[in-house]
Amino acid sequence: MPRVSIAFFTIATLCGLAGMIWGSQMGITGDHSLHPAHAHLNLVGWVTLSIMGGFYALPGVATPGLLAWINMILSSVGAVLMAILLPQVMMEKLSGQVMMAAEAPTILGMICFLIAVISGWRKPVA
Ligand code: HEM
Ligand code: HEM
Repeated sequence: MPRVSIAFFTIATLCGLAGMIWGSQMGITGDHSLHPAHAHLNLVGWVTLSIMGGFYALPGVATPGLLAWINMILSSVGAVLMAILLPQVMMEKLSGQVMMAAEAPTILGMICFLIAVISGWRKPVA
């Protein structure tokens, strides 16, 4: 498996584990008020990063290069910042505009992923 996929899965699993502990904490306390932040840590962190890491490890996909690493860093930073900033915004400790700091890397990471996927049309391997 390419090292970039291992990096994707490492961050994804840490997000998934943190998201599950957070979900359990919500269940135990009965306070579900931050559930959108829990949802996005799981969905942008665990689910999205796993899909991306899995793609780069697929047979037939060109050996991942710099673009894949930039994708991994941007998407990981986006997922982690979303989990940190969204609760602050929801508790009105920070302005909603601060979410751009998480959204920008998340969206740029997805654009990198789109380029990687589309380049499969240009130079398909096997
Ligand atoms: C141990 C694992 C987990 C626990 C204990 C847990 C717990 C919870 C709780 C208590 C809520 C709030 C429900 C509500 O008030 O409507 C919630 C919402 C949510 N969780 Fe989890 N969760 C877990 C794992 C996951 C995972 C792995 C994902 C995604 C891959 C996920 C996605 C979501 C989503 C999308 C919502 C929002 C649902 C809505 O808006 O109705 N959760 N979770
Ligand atoms: C830049 C990335 C993203 C942004 C800015 C974003 C933003 C939002 C916003 C503003 C809401 C409404 C929350 C509310 O009304 O409480 C929402 C809900 C939701 N989003 Fe996202 N989202 C993003 C990525 C994703 C991704 C990648 C997934 C799934 C893989 C996803 C799944 C969901 C789900 C299931 C809900 C409803 C859950 C809930 O109510 O907590 N989102 N999102």
